[in-house]
Amino acid sequence: MDSIGSLGLQQREGAPSCPQEGLPCPSNSSELVQECLQQFKVTGAQLRQIQTSLLDSMEQALKGQASPAPAVRMLPTYVGSTPHGTEQGDFVVLELGATGASLRVLWVTLMGIEGHKMEPRSQEFVIPQEVMLGPGQQLFDFAARCLSEFLDALPVGNQGLQLGFSFSFPCHQTGLDKSTLISWTKGFRCSGVEGQDVVQLLRDAIQRQGTYSIDVVAVVNDTVGTMMGCEPGLGPCEVGLVVDTGTNACYMEEARHVAVLDEDRGRVCISVEWGSFSDDGALGPVLTIFDHTLDHESLNRGAQRFEKMIGGLYLGELVRLVLAHLARCGVLFGGYTSPALLRQGGILLEHVAEMEDPSAGAARVHAILQDLGLNPRASDAEFVQHVCAAVCTRAAQLCAAALAAVLSRLQHSREQQTLQIAVATGGRVFERHPRFLSILQETVMLLAPECDVSFIPSVDGGGQGVAMVTAVAARLAAHRCLLEETLAPFRLTREQLAAVQAQMREAMAKGLQGEASSLRMLPTYVRDTPDGSERGDFLALDLGGTNFRVLLVRVATGGVQITSQIYSIPECVAQGSGQQLFDHIVDCIVDFQEKQGLSGQSLPLGFTFSFPCTQLGLDQGILLNWTKGFNASDCEGQDVVCLLREAIGRRQAVELNVVAIVNDTVGTMMSCGYEDPHCEVGLIVGTGTNACYMEELRNVASVDGDSGHMCINMEWGAFGDDGSLSMLSTRFDASVDQASINPGKQRFEKMISGMYLGEIVRHTLLHLTSLGVLFRGQQTQRLQTRDIFKTKFLSEIESDSLALRQVRAILEDLGLSLTSDDALMVLEVCQAVSQRAAQLCGAGVAAVVEKIRENRGLEELTVSVGVDGTLYKLHPHFSSLVAATVRELAPRCVVTFLQSEDGSGKGAALVTAVACRLAQMTCV
Ligand code: BG6
Ligand code: GLC
Ligand code: GLC
Repeated sequence: MDSIGSLGLQQREGAPSCPQEGLPCPSNSSELVQECLQQFKVTGAQLRQIQTSLLDSMEQALKGQASPAPAVRMLPTYVGSTPHGTEQGDFVVLELGATGASLRVLWVTLMGIEGHKMEPRSQEFVIPQEVMLGPGQQLFDFAARCLSEFLDALPVGNQGLQLGFSFSFPCHQTGLDKSTLISWTKGFRCSGVEGQDVVQLLRDAIQRQGTYSIDVVAVVNDTVGTMMGCEPGLGPCEVGLVVDTGTNACYMEEARHVAVLDEDRGRVCISVEWGSFSDDGALGPVLTIFDHTLDHESLNRGAQRFEKMIGGLYLGELVRLVLAHLARCGVLFGGYTSPALLRQGGILLEHVAEMEDPSAGAARVHAILQDLGLNPRASDAEFVQHVCAAVCTRAAQLCAAALAAVLSRLQHSREQQTLQIAVATGGRVFERHPRFLSILQETVMLLAPECDVSFIPSVDGGGQGVAMVTAVAARLAAHRCLLEETLAPFRLTREQLAAVQAQMREAMAKGLQGEASSLRMLPTYVRDTPDGSERGDFLALDLGGTNFRVLLVRVATGGVQITSQIYSIPECVAQGSGQQLFDHIVDCIVDFQEKQGLSGQSLPLGFTFSFPCTQLGLDQGILLNWTKGFNASDCEGQDVVCLLREAIGRRQAVELNVVAIVNDTVGTMMSCGYEDPHCEVGLIVGTGTNACYMEELRNVASVDGDSGHMCINMEWGAFGDDGSLSMLSTRFDASVDQASINPGKQRFEKMISGMYLGEIVRHTLLHLTSLGVLFRGQQTQRLQTRDIFKTKFLSEIESDSLALRQVRAILEDLGLSLTSDDALMVLEVCQAVSQRAAQLCGAGVAAVVEKIRENRGLEELTVSVGVDGTLYKLHPHFSSLVAATVRELAPRCVVTFLQSEDGSGKGAALVTAVACRLAQMTCV
């Protein structure tokens, strides 16, 4: 084509021809224009079909349908609530991707008082084309430079600035400050960014720039900024609609409908990413030849087909293609084109908006066309206006169909027949194009008549909203710091655990030697584990754990058979008088005997008594002090077997033959030892915690004899009562200790066992609430109630399969209303407390097995540990954490943990059986 004259007009080639395939070229101009524009007409039925089809895609995506992939993505944004209006502070906002080739930086001050506003400062920077299409690093470096330049002009320091990043492209968000770009849209195509966390890329660039210390606190889509910045009217604004370079919407969805989230309460903001909607069935009939050409010539061919009919980047382009076609057909501009008309991007949204404006008048249209290098004739202005109107009307109608789909979705998810809702609108198409909103409104009314929609223009192009999200994110980040600080003392290093192990070893040695030590290392007079030859029927009592039990244990050739019954010990009895307690025990035995038809028989009885006792023989145990929840008077310093016999005496009707008194650790070891001869350690992690093990008799100063073994009840719950654990003790341990019935006692037990972990968590939660980190800083009476937070809650909360839903259910049962962030933090508190407990317990076991190995002078020891206790058995991770710690701290011991299935009553019966066998042998 030849250029003519200074206008740069290009002459048409010969007679009118139709470059756009399939379009005839009638000679009548008006007809041709009409025919061309007819293609842009969308019927009500087509709009309804788009609405239905988009709604289907949205619902499939929410359900997590993988195949076929739904036409829209429905991306969760980590924004869980609309603003409270109380957010405050100064924030830097960086906007990238909403408005074509420009980047905006804002300084936003939130006043913290609803309705009070301060105008933000802002600056726009044009992104050079080569940056939009170059390496990703170059784009982010450019952004960091713009930030610096903007901040240089402000009276702000260079430290501690908090930034909200509005990044308007489809992203998979995994946190408020973590977002992976799925694919570029609109005019961007920088290399090395897709699949990367854009927040990290920005942080890296800011660091490379080096001038300002800026914390990138939150990343949001422009639709979210638009929604969040909306001044709340009568109700909150729960939809954000953007028609700028591209188009998209976000809305507040019920979290339980979003399959990818593990949340069943509350709402979450979903970015629909409707620009990618391209259902062939629905869109096919409305796509024109110009849409196909536009797509073909775009950077992202085949993608974002819906956006390409609505977004501002494309409206000018569609008009250009139509005008070029009509010019080539000889209908417009005397058949002449111009370089601007033939160049991609030659006509911009601004041109279209202005030309379409009915008030513009023919002269203005003329002037614009001339600016585009065209030489319009008198009739051209009107035709051009028709073209602009047709393209824009279609865009507004399609956008309305999509918005109607979102409104239908809201109606479905909220199960409401009618819906009153505010939609925040943002983007240059709304700002510059006067008719767009009115067509949109009209069409929405037709497509969703049951919805009463008010449209509210966004504040500062969404900058305010981004600042709101940033304020929330900054508050959450500050809370996280406080949480980390609070939990730090619970997190023990390997060195700290090794020190606990070493101290335990030292205390064991001292205790065995009879020197001052917090470990009493009590001889039990159990010299061997069972050999399998034991036989007979025995009664057993089991006192000191969660349940008090009476058992009938039949040891026969075929194995051990147990019948048992649980009786309650009311707190008033456990903490009443000794006589009352032992009378109650005997009452329970009598009841059991009657029910089992054993009345009148005097079976040998083994008594599992899970408290520290000095033993001088198997059937003698002087209670040193009560532990756990017991505190019956006049028992400490007394022989428990005597107390039981006296109670039997008071209840003249029964005769009982008490043969042995056994600690639960010993019962457990014996019970497991019946199955596995390697079982030489007994461990309890239940209401209390303790361990016993087989020691060389020669090491036990208080018992005569140099050969053979004796089981030692370590009473490790008291470890640290001499102050040696104070380095590890947190303020919460101190509170739990102070509030207990035995302050200063059982310090190791109070960090590990079931009676106390719930309390440690409760005290920690109280502290975090007082810092404002949890429950919005609201203290409740319930949480201040002692023992309200049971240790079994830790097990339930930490069980992976139930996760955060469980936390919510438990805490709400306690009358605490919590957000999903609260739920996560409570889970972390539970994890920190139970992890420390398991690790300390592991350090104790490591000390014990290492002692056994060294006693025997072995390079490697293979040993089994019999374990019982509700915490160990019910907690989902406790046992594996104990085992891992033992592997770490006692690498030369191969330790197998055996869970006792029958409780320590069976072990007590076995100890009794052995004693009876030995007694018979001596009689013979
Ligand atoms: C049981 C024993 O199996 O474990 C009790 O029979 C022991 O004697 C108990 O005290 C420890 O667990 P908990 O959780 O009941 O204290
Ligand atoms: C594009 C982006 C989307 C954005 C929209 C409006 O569709 O993919 O994330 O919200 O443009 O800017
Ligand atoms: C307490 C008791 C101890 C018992 C342990 C486990 O620590 O003092 O004897 O073994 O609890 O029940």
